[in-house]
Amino acid sequence: MTGTTLTQMAVEVLTTADGREKTALSRRHAAAWFAAREAGHDIPVGTATPPLRPARPERPELLDPRDVPRRRPGSPQGRLAILHAVAHIELNAVDLHWDIIARFGHVPMPIGFHDDWVKSADEESKHFNLICDCLEANGSHYGALPAHAGMWRAAEDTAQDLMGRLAVVPMVLEARGLDVTPGMIGIFDKAGDTRAVEAMKVIYAEEVHHVAYGSKWFHFLCGRHDLDPKEVFHDLVRRYFHGPLKPPFNEEKRAEAGLPPDFYWPLADGPAAES
Ligand SMILES: [Fe+2]
Ligand SMILES: [Fe+2]
Repeated sequence: MTGTTLTQMAVEVLTTADGREKTALSRRHAAAWFAAREAGHDIPVGTATPPLRPARPERPELLDPRDVPRRRPGSPQGRLAILHAVAHIELNAVDLHWDIIARFGHVPMPIGFHDDWVKSADEESKHFNLICDCLEANGSHYGALPAHAGMWRAAEDTAQDLMGRLAVVPMVLEARGLDVTPGMIGIFDKAGDTRAVEAMKVIYAEEVHHVAYGSKWFHFLCGRHDLDPKEVFHDLVRRYFHGPLKPPFNEEKRAEAGLPPDFYWPLADGPAAES
């Protein structure tokens, strides 16, 4: 049976280890949330205690990013490695979106905040499954290769700070996805892998909204606390994100998501970072 509050539902997803099971549960919970919303008897948000780290399957083996073997992106093995890395990112993203709901259930927020992250978690679950289908169509699967161990660090670092979480996860990490996805689509297009191209186009279209939700609720909280959004963003990213942001930036999609250039350029490495 499902949890009776949204934060309990989130914890159930976070404590499910298997990727396909986690995403199936995530999609069921999202459907239940929106069905209840539509019927006019909202599921209460409640409060719950999420695990410090989400449950993970035994495979993939998690390695320090420096120890994850690199393969040429043009080779079939290189493309499998990209798909595997994307699947790993999507699975983490499922947990990140449920974690923001569970972790900050005590912070009073408009219901739209919860709608946005439930919808995002549902979309990430779809993304994980689409990319797993691509891996399986190419004779592989999620878990066949090692994956980055550091992906939950941003969540742990910002476990006490909702504005920090919004700044670092949707507005930095997910925005980075907007920068790199067109290049990945190009690689799979060149190789004639139409399944992967289609999957990545879905991801690319939907991720813009996740960044936009981050920006929307970040600005909302700045308004609540009478803070200057750009200054606070710079402070929080410098505090919680380790290292400079990497250009080139997808300025067009970032703008569409409500991220103005004066938010990210001053945090970038290179000559433009001085200002
Ligand atoms: Fe995604
Ligand atoms: Fe996302």
